[in-house]
Order: sequence, then C-alpha cells, then structure tokens
Amino acid sequence: MKRANLEEVHRQIREWYAKNGRHDLPWRTTDDPYRIYISEVMLQQTQVKTVLERFYFPFLEKFPTLKALGSAPLDEVLKAWEGLGYYNRAKNLHKTAQLLIQKGQVQGIAPTMPENIDSLVKLPGIGKNTAHAIAAFAFNKPVPVMEANVRRILCRLHRIKTPNDKKIWEIAYAMVDIRHPFDYNQAMMDIGATLCLPKSPKCEACPLETLCQGKNDPERYPTKVRKKVPSKEEHILLYCYNDKLALTQRSGKFLHGLWGFESTDAPLCAAEYIGDVTHAYTHFKLTCHVHLYHETEPSQERYFRLEEIDSLAISKVDRKIINLYKEACGS
Ligand code: ADE
Repeated sequence: MKRANLEEVHRQIREWYAKNGRHDLPWRTTDDPYRIYISEVMLQQTQVKTVLERFYFPFLEKFPTLKALGSAPLDEVLKAWEGLGYYNRAKNLHKTAQLLIQKGQVQGIAPTMPENIDSLVKLPGIGKNTAHAIAAFAFNKPVPVMEANVRRILCRLHRIKTPNDKKIWEIAYAMVDIRHPFDYNQAMMDIGATLCLPKSPKCEACPLETLCQGKNDPERYPTKVRKKVPSKEEHILLYCYNDKLALTQRSGKFLHGLWGFESTDAPLCAAEYIGDVTHAYTHFKLTCHVHLYHETEPSQERYFRLEEIDSLAISKVDRKIINLYKEACGS
C-alpha cells in the first residue's frame, strides 16, 4: 500500500479508537511494565472479562511488583492463579520474576522488565506475541502485536485462508503505525474483539472497510480448522479418613505443583461410585468417574479437612471432584 494511503488508514483507526476503544481497561491506563506483563500473560488464554472481573486485581494486590512475585513461594502464586488454568503460565511468571531479580542484583538495581523483543522472548513464558505486546504497550516500541483477533483481521484484509506465520508477521510489520504503536495495537485488538468477529462481522462500522479485500465473504478468511479433540476417561479414588480427604502434590509435567487426587486403573470394590465430572482441556476432554472409599486406617501420606483444601492450589477438575464429594456427603 502507498504511504499516503497507509497514513489515512492509520488516521481512521486512531479516530475509531478514540471514539470506540476500551480505554478504561486497567492495563491500558498504566505504564508499569510489570502490570502490563501480568495482563498479557493472563490474556494469553483467557477472556478480557474473566481476567478483569476475577483475576487481575487480586493477583496484583498479592504480588504488586516483580520482586514480590519472585520472592513468594510458588504455591502462593499457583493459588492466586487457581481457576485461570494453564498453570505453566503461573510457573513461568514466577521463574521470570526470579531471573529478573537475580539480574537486578548483579546490576545493583531493582528488578525491571527488559525493553527489547530479543531479551523479552528469552524469558520463560514470553513468546513472540507477548514480547511484542510488552514492547509496544509498556515501552511504546514501533512493533505490531499478533493475538488471535489481530491475526483474523490481517487474514481478512488480504484474503488469506491459511495464514503462514512468517507472512502474517511481515504483513503486520508493514502495517503498524510506527508513530502511535500503543493506540494502533490496542485499536486492532478492539476492532477484532468487537467488529471483525469470526461470525457476522460488522464490516459497515469498521475503519478498515475500504482496505479490506475479504469483506464480501469474510467468514472464509481464515478457514476454521476444526480439531477433533480426543476423549480420556479416568477413575478417581477418593480416600476418606475421619472426614478428611487424601491429596498429593503433583510432580509430573501435567498440572505440576498443584494438589489433587490420584487416578487409579481399577477402583477398589469396597469404594462407592459417587458420580462423574468432566472438563474440556485444549487438547482433550476428560471424564473422571469418582469413587469414594471410607477408610478405617489411614493408608495415604497426607489428609486434609475441607477447609484446609480451600487454601491449597488445585485444578478445576479437582475442585469439581470436591463439589461432587460434598454433594454425596451432604456437607
Ligand atoms: N488481549 C491481549 N492483550 C490485550 C489488551 N492489551 N487489551 C485487550 N485484549 C488483549
């Protein structure tokens, strides 16, 4: 596109954003790189509404700085993350904060986020898009961001059905408003979230309409690939002794560090089946058949009262299992 045209498009995007943008999102009204970093990691797999209503403020109240985050025990960070899922994100935040504390100590300064993309992507849990978002939003660097909504806009603009990563980043770099990267990128996200919707996009209200090659058949771009997720089934055996339940802290890769219930190949005959719980992960759907076994002698390592379990970091599935247990026992 010619430079003059691009400038006009940028002007229209800015005008649209000034009128319609979500200006009061709290990560847009701060220039604290740490707060922006936390928001971007939370928003990696979770909707704005959920992050805003349930997680962003309590997390920052608990861990207001990189130093507070890196100095806290991992268990506490996982607990604050409970309900957001994808717990590796929380572990990586913790690791990154610790690395930046160490780096600050070597340099004799308070820990800070690096400003450039090459340093940002080297940190645990910061991928290409998150690095670009931190650089643009915290440091006003002239770079584009590429979350799912922006990717959809770019595909539509150029009628791309199956985007190739290299190509789509090239397009994004060619299009970014280098004089106003903050407003431009936030606007693109808002256009994607409110107008350029996967189904029935509101093209008539879009500031990119004149530029958009895909507007006559927008739902074709990009082509939706329907992944069939496999189903898994597990038997869960709840060991109950003296109204306490046995939980173990997970040590494998999946849900590492969280407390939970062990699965078993074959539930004991003496255990009572109390129902199923299901949960949809990104890569599979899980159904747990839950069995309750009342013990006369403790056979497991650690048992917890229900109030104690409330203060442990546990996964959504395990919370659902506890709710099933409460229903079964009428507690
Ligand atoms: N998703 C990722 N980053 C975002 C931001 N800054 N505003 C709204 N949604 C987002």
